[in-house]
Amino acid sequence: MAVVESLFLQATGTSILLGVVLMVVIYFYLSSCSTKEEANEPPGPKPLPLLGNLLQLDLDRPHESLSELAKTYGSVFKVYFGTKKVVVLAGYKTVKQALVNYAEEFGEREINHTFKFAEDHGILFSNGENWKEMRRFALTNLRDFGMGKRGSEEKIVEEFQYLKEVFESFGGKPFDTTQPMNYAVSNIISSIVYGSRFEYSDPQFKEMVNRANENVRIGGSASMRIFNILPWIGPFLKSRRTLNMNAEKNKKEVRKLVSDLQETLTPGERRGFVDSFLLRKESDEQSGQKNSRFNERNLITTVINLFVAGTDTTSTTLRWGMLLMAKYPHIQDKVQAEIDKVIGGRQPVVEDRKNLPYTDAVIHEVQRLANIIPMSLPHTTSCDVNFNGYFIKKGTTVYPLLMSVLRDESQWKSPHTFSPENFLDEQGRFVKKDAFMPFSAGRRVCLGESLARMELFLFFSSLLQHFRFTPPPGVSEDQLDLTGVVGITVNPSPHKLCAVKRT
Ligand code: HEM
Repeated sequence: MAVVESLFLQATGTSILLGVVLMVVIYFYLSSCSTKEEANEPPGPKPLPLLGNLLQLDLDRPHESLSELAKTYGSVFKVYFGTKKVVVLAGYKTVKQALVNYAEEFGEREINHTFKFAEDHGILFSNGENWKEMRRFALTNLRDFGMGKRGSEEKIVEEFQYLKEVFESFGGKPFDTTQPMNYAVSNIISSIVYGSRFEYSDPQFKEMVNRANENVRIGGSASMRIFNILPWIGPFLKSRRTLNMNAEKNKKEVRKLVSDLQETLTPGERRGFVDSFLLRKESDEQSGQKNSRFNERNLITTVINLFVAGTDTTSTTLRWGMLLMAKYPHIQDKVQAEIDKVIGGRQPVVEDRKNLPYTDAVIHEVQRLANIIPMSLPHTTSCDVNFNGYFIKKGTTVYPLLMSVLRDESQWKSPHTFSPENFLDEQGRFVKKDAFMPFSAGRRVCLGESLARMELFLFFSSLLQHFRFTPPPGVSEDQLDLTGVVGITVNPSPHKLCAVKRT
């Protein structure tokens, strides 16, 4: 009901009238399409005409409703978002089997109405040969520019100094960590992509980061989920207009940044991913290669994909990390004691990770509990699939419920509470867990995983080395809220923390 209300609050009087007329037309159109069943489909709750299972789904927190339904219908089940059929995969064994053992069959991306503007370019919302070529090129080149290697270690260590200055500037008083954390993390992917970082005060950079974050929030909101079911309501939705406007502005800004790099491009000297792409584009043009995919559209979309995917995710995880440290001071004590003992006052480096098992376990546990992409990104089946005794038709939308893997009761000692012991053995040694799947798995597995893991370790350990995180004065640890705000990623609810400088 709240969702319907918020949709209508966004609309003007005339548009409501138009909407009602259109709704009647659509009603008759949709009435002619039935929720067709194939033989031997996965089980699921009985759908109502048109509404499907919407009454059983909280569109503000669909991952929670789906986790509940999995308790009744098992690890492969179907639900109807309106008339749209979705197959949900739940639990470690099933999700891993589908994404890894049936990688081709479950490895396509669903391009829903929200992300139609990518028009099958770039990596995130692309499929087939275009996706394959862009993903391969990005992986090779990002590695060349240091993704997951020494090159990015240096960038992160340098960036931390800027972040530290901002945190210090609050003098231990409460502040919102969102923007500085976003800017610091964004600068890592920016310097890999463009070859240089931005000043936090640069208005163009600030707007780009803020727009990217707004789109991640809006892109997974209840109103956009309704838009994906009933695309005709698009023109009446404020959030859709904002999303499109932001996407257009982002394209314009990136085009400008790319054209500046193009003007100063020198063959033999690649400053970042954009230069590599431009040089490949030029060489394809010179060799007269027709239909080359190294065109401007793929360049702009890939750069935006990397910028958005590489900023919000890592920054959100680090903000969950600081919040959880403030909420559980006894765990923060142990992390800081370990860092002080093993590293002392010098800058943490990647090599230190193996000597910091407790800190490593805490970072993993932050990712497990924060569960920032609980339904992964939507997949579709690339062909008809027979899976675990069920038939799933080609082109069916599939949600790999990562949340159900990260909280699978058969896989974790303490599935529902924040407990670093989930990643430690009796002797306090770090233990790798197969069900640790926040980056998903299979052919669509996060392309930036190695970079993200390095950023999480270096930023988190450096932050904890220099600052003690506490709730604002007058707020108790118990009052710190872990509910989260759901977009494409789950962000901590708005809050402030104190970052008290450690002596
Ligand atoms: C803590 C940080 C991160 C988390 C938890 C995360 C998680 C994910 C997840 C769950 C997916 C969807 C996988 C699927 O479809 O099954 C994904 C895709 C992707 N991620 Fe990440 N990610 C993180 C950081 C990054 C970074 C730093 C980059 C930048 C290099 C990045 C780039 C991408 C791209 C390009 C895709 C699309 C892959 C494709 O469709 O082939 N991610 N990520």
